[in-house]
Amino acid sequence: MNNKFLIQRVEDFVYKRLYNEGSGHDWWHIDRVRRNAMYIGTKENANLFIIEIAALLHDLIDDKLSENIKLNVSQVEQLLLNLGIDQEIIQAIIRIIQVISFRKKEPKNQLSLEAKVIQDADRLDAIGAIGIARTFVYAGSKGNIIYHPDVEEKTDAISHFYEKLLKLKDLMNTNAGRSLAEERHQFLELYLNQFYDEWNGRK
Ligand code: ADP
Ligand code: NI
Repeated sequence: MNNKFLIQRVEDFVYKRLYNEGSGHDWWHIDRVRRNAMYIGTKENANLFIIEIAALLHDLIDDKLSENIKLNVSQVEQLLLNLGIDQEIIQAIIRIIQVISFRKKEPKNQLSLEAKVIQDADRLDAIGAIGIARTFVYAGSKGNIIYHPDVEEKTDAISHFYEKLLKLKDLMNTNAGRSLAEERHQFLELYLNQFYDEWNGRK
């Protein structure tokens, strides 16, 4: 099988499993991560075949997926074996999706270049206009509210900006990722300013 055909097979597989996923890991998240990863990967001279397959598979073993959608590592491995992909490449792909899904705090220099690229693309999708949309959808799916200014336990959506979103730009691995994160980060700050203005009734 040629690479284009292989990628199409993986894409069909992932699309069928995730098109309707409701916690922010739906097919279109996967597609955006794939496209940003290919862009960054090109700039970084990374292996684009590994990047494209790993980006397509990156959330399939994530604990946040419901049990009927989630796969385990050996199921993903089997899928790639069935497509006739080389064992060495399969292991590189599996290692990437494990790092991304299990949020292992691996020291940066132990991540492969391809893992760094996909992690950047995944983080980009958590900030900017799209990241804001995903945050509110995720909060809604968990029954959490938009903003709670005065409670100890911070489960509201706005708190997630401080717990995660605003930190991501400084965690980017690649130059291309860092530069894409800049504008999206500024948009988060602009959004929060407007949000508080409206909340406090000053505008
Ligand atoms: P991914 O696996 O794509 O990196 P996550 O599984 O961490 O993303 O989360 C999915 C989306 O939901 C992301 O946009 C993330 O910022 C958002 N999210 C995660 N946890 C929370 C939370 N506690 N409140 C609001 N949004 C959240
Ligand atoms: Ni993701």
